[in-house]
Amino acid sequence: MTTNKRQIHFGTILQGAGGNMSAWRHPDAIADASINLDFVKNIAKQAEQAKFDFVFIADGLYINEKSIPHFLNRFEPITLLSALASVTQNVGLVGTVSTSYSEPFNVARQFASLDHISGGRAGWNVVTTPLEGTSKNFNNKPHPEHQQRYEIANEYLDVVKGLWDSWEKDAFVRNKKTGLFFDKNKLHAVEHAGEYFQVNGPLNIERTPQERPIVFQAGASTSGQELAAKHADAIFTHQHRLEEAQAFYSSVKGKLKNHGRAEDDLLIFQGIGVLIGENETDAEQQYQQMAELVSIDNALNYLGRFFEHHDFTQYDLDAPFPDVGSLGQNSFRSTTDEIKHIAQVNHYTLRQTALASATPKPPFMGTAIQVADQLEHWFNSRAADGFIIQGTTPNTLTQFIDHVVPILQARGIYRTEYFGTTLRENLQLPLPVNQFEKSIPQEKIA
Ligand SMILES: Cc1cc2nc3c(=O)[nH]c(=O)nc-3n(C[C@H](O)[C@H](O)[C@H](O)COP(=O)(O)O)c2cc1C
Repeated sequence: MTTNKRQIHFGTILQGAGGNMSAWRHPDAIADASINLDFVKNIAKQAEQAKFDFVFIADGLYINEKSIPHFLNRFEPITLLSALASVTQNVGLVGTVSTSYSEPFNVARQFASLDHISGGRAGWNVVTTPLEGTSKNFNNKPHPEHQQRYEIANEYLDVVKGLWDSWEKDAFVRNKKTGLFFDKNKLHAVEHAGEYFQVNGPLNIERTPQERPIVFQAGASTSGQELAAKHADAIFTHQHRLEEAQAFYSSVKGKLKNHGRAEDDLLIFQGIGVLIGENETDAEQQYQQMAELVSIDNALNYLGRFFEHHDFTQYDLDAPFPDVGSLGQNSFRSTTDEIKHIAQVNHYTLRQTALASATPKPPFMGTAIQVADQLEHWFNSRAADGFIIQGTTPNTLTQFIDHVVPILQARGIYRTEYFGTTLRENLQLPLPVNQFEKSIPQEKIA
């Protein structure tokens, strides 16, 4: 099934019992969900039944005792996605891997393998790793500065794409009679010698079902947007207000033409907190139940992580949000800029800032119809091409699938069947051309 009408895309984030400090304590939460394979399999199957484009795994490589519970004890993304590939057929499998703390050859190979194993459903969320402490787990190699991390990521993606182009589509002949296993004219080595990477290639796995896995990018600063405009098929972002999301959307889409790309070649996904109630009072009560589980100490720890694990307990909780200088600029820059902005415009105290950050009121909250209306409005206002659903309570995803999805399907803006079998087909993204493939000589066409 294909359609010409622009359609909303959905993914859901796999984050155990939830992304806040106390989500695991909710009465309906499965407390060990982050490390419970059956739990994760069920979410992936649910997402597939609802025709979601993908499930999405965010990830990091550094924890301390103040990290949120889900981060303390969870599966490695590619391993988990490989397990999910064998129990699902259509849903895309997107996982986060850092370009600052990994090697392009390994990562190109892992995602190519996942693409084959899943029949064309692999996606890589490229992150540059904000947390400085990560270097302690990687031989104390100095943590690169924000700008340098993006330079590394840019070169890294050139290398990975070169590796994914190692083999042309039909390079493996496997002719038992002639003994020809592969056509050597269809084998290419990237032979990359750059500032950060020296990688010869070729990659030891054939071209993948999607030609190459889908590349997501998460990072919203100007450098992040530039990286996405050049390299990514999709962006994972989150803006709190419609106007900001629209500005981000048009800024990124506007950069695509500089790279010879069309507006539809890159999809923008807003990661959104969602809460569905039978009525507004019910939604508010559900929110309060969740928010009350988070203590102020939890909230300060949560806030501190964005600011390089800064200790906010040293300040007066009821004084205005403290001036922390440039702390966070080399870490979660776009996120810390946003937190400081919100504190400033609302004249928030530290307590209010920490609680707003740790237990934000989900922007998509209300009855199923209200949430469907809001999603449609953001989608039609060009604030997003799709959404990555982050359920506020353990029941939210099911409520979303049971009550919001059918409304959007009835309105004809969300599909009732998958468009194809690969993630690329379902996202309606163009097939990439192999950079080494020679164009067919004109005389052969005639
Ligand atoms: C929506 C969003 C999601 C992100 N997800 C991750 C993640 O899963 N793992 C990670 O290490 N960094 C993640 N990052 C961090 C970015 O990769 C980047 O290092 C950081 O945000 C600084 O870049 P920026 O200023 O361009 O946003 C995320 C950032 C954003 C904005």
